[in-house]
Amino acid sequence: MKISVIGAGYVGLVTGGCLAGLGHEVVCTDSDAEKLKTLESGRLPIYEPGLDVVIAHARKEGRLSFRANGAETVQFGDAIFICVGTPPLPNGSADLSAIDHVARLVATEARTPKLVIEKSTVPAQTGQELKRALAVYGRKSGVAFRVASNPEFLREGTAVEDFLHPDRIVVGVEDEVAEKQLKEIYRPVLERTFTCPVHSGKCPDVPLPAWLVTTINSAELIKHASNSFLAVKISYANMVADLAEKLGADIEEVVRAVGMDPRIGRSFFHAGIGFGGFCLPKDLQAFVHLAEKSGVDFSMLKEAENINKRRINRFMEKIRRALWVVKGKQIGVLGLAFKPNTDDIRFAPAIDLIHELLKEGAIVRAYDPEAMEKAQPVLPQIQFGKSAYEAAEGAEALLIATEWEQFRKLDWERVRDSMVRPLILDGRNLLSAKQMKGHGFEYYSMGRPD
Ligand code: UGA
Repeated sequence: MKISVIGAGYVGLVTGGCLAGLGHEVVCTDSDAEKLKTLESGRLPIYEPGLDVVIAHARKEGRLSFRANGAETVQFGDAIFICVGTPPLPNGSADLSAIDHVARLVATEARTPKLVIEKSTVPAQTGQELKRALAVYGRKSGVAFRVASNPEFLREGTAVEDFLHPDRIVVGVEDEVAEKQLKEIYRPVLERTFTCPVHSGKCPDVPLPAWLVTTINSAELIKHASNSFLAVKISYANMVADLAEKLGADIEEVVRAVGMDPRIGRSFFHAGIGFGGFCLPKDLQAFVHLAEKSGVDFSMLKEAENINKRRINRFMEKIRRALWVVKGKQIGVLGLAFKPNTDDIRFAPAIDLIHELLKEGAIVRAYDPEAMEKAQPVLPQIQFGKSAYEAAEGAEALLIATEWEQFRKLDWERVRDSMVRPLILDGRNLLSAKQMKGHGFEYYSMGRPD
């Protein structure tokens, strides 16, 4: 099929690249001309494992191109995926102006019937507004539009994998034609008939995805309800961790056993310095706002948000307790990205943590395998190490702020010998207390006995 993708951020690039990889012809546009230039030159504006391979392959095969001209992009596809940002407004609700802008572009530039698919995360009932906007802006052209919602469940760091081997594909539609078109788009994923661009061409041995057809309102609600549930689950683990600390229990032992109940599940149940990124915090806020607007008191979500906001303070208390005076001390920080395998620092707990450390007069030297370029303009006051070892050198404390796998495997004796004081505060429970003590460190983590 011919497909247009509007928005070349995380979601748009993964969607466009993967759809082209499945055999469709894709044209992608974005309002950011610089970003398009970067993409045209063969580079990627983001770090996302496997995406470079997928995009390079699709471009080489001539199935993916980037165009600055929005009108041409709209006219190209029979289906148009809206992948623009929906950032939070000061009151926490989602800013839908980019969606409105796309609706106007599509309605005024389309010359043939289009299936317009919202992939951006939006509050329930946005699809209805989108339909209305397309009708209003396109009233002179007489072009027919169908609207569908197809929420994404892509996790940064494994987004390509998630797109190609999802556990479910949700399509919110109003008629069978839209459903058929979407099924055609996703057929290779549903039947797994594509050649996997990652895993050396072989798909992992996971079940085929479920195909879920819903109303548009339900599809939109599914997305917000999923992300908010994940946020609640993490905040719950964090509260149990605080309690475990007080009671002399070990959160890792507790969540392991609790999570073995399949009704609860083990994943997304890790205590630490909290959730960040551009999805969970903003979607939680937008969901709270949507509930309020709809007259539903969903205060449970507000509490999950408040718990998350307090995580950095909790960690700072530990740092103060261990260091006694923070002012003037050199502190190494491992990790800047909001989670591993990404260079994304938006709403990253590590960044908030460093701001707190700076407020208290600490001297910070940080290291992250991928996120330093993005962090430099945001944190001009700190030093950046070329390696984890450089970040630790001369430090009186080393903090773990992002759970990068490679931090687990450091030469800890080398780290210990280069530090002024062998002290580790692990905000992600990445390391084993026993092993760190064995290496001669004073070691503190979250919800585990000191
Ligand atoms: C999230 C959802 O997981 C995806 O399903 C969704 O598609 C995506 O948002 C989106 O809406 O686009 P993502 O933002 O990539 O994906 O990040 P997550 O993997 O959800 O992690 C969010 C944060 O929670 C990270 O800071 C991570 O370190 C933290 N986390 C995660 C915990 O603190 N504990 C856990 O147990 C798991």
